[in-house]
Amino acid sequence: MECEDHVTWTKACGTSDIEKGEGFQLDREHPIALFNVDGEYFAIDDTCTHDESSLADGYVDGDVVECAWHFAKFCIKTGEVLSLPATCPVATYAVKVEGDDVFVDLPD
Ligand code: FES
Repeated sequence: MECEDHVTWTKACGTSDIEKGEGFQLDREHPIALFNVDGEYFAIDDTCTHDESSLADGYVDGDVVECAWHFAKFCIKTGEVLSLPATCPVATYAVKVEGDDVFVDLPD
């Protein structure tokens, strides 16, 4: 059995709130962007590491999101930065789906 002592699951939204190929912003002090990549859900920091645009407002192509402001690209699955002008990755968060609800493991 998996140990989940360190996990703080927070309900983010419903599965139907995240259209395939679109981002969903979980609006909180530290905003999170959720994506639906072929029916699998992923969560990353919403704020672009270049200049603070929302990645949930970016352009999604498969498992890549392109920032809407200056077009840096990030891997939705790993947070890795794939193109300039951003140079730093974004954090990723574990996601689980229970029924029609999407939960994210968020720090307190
Ligand atoms: S704010 Fe994202 S690339 Fe500039």
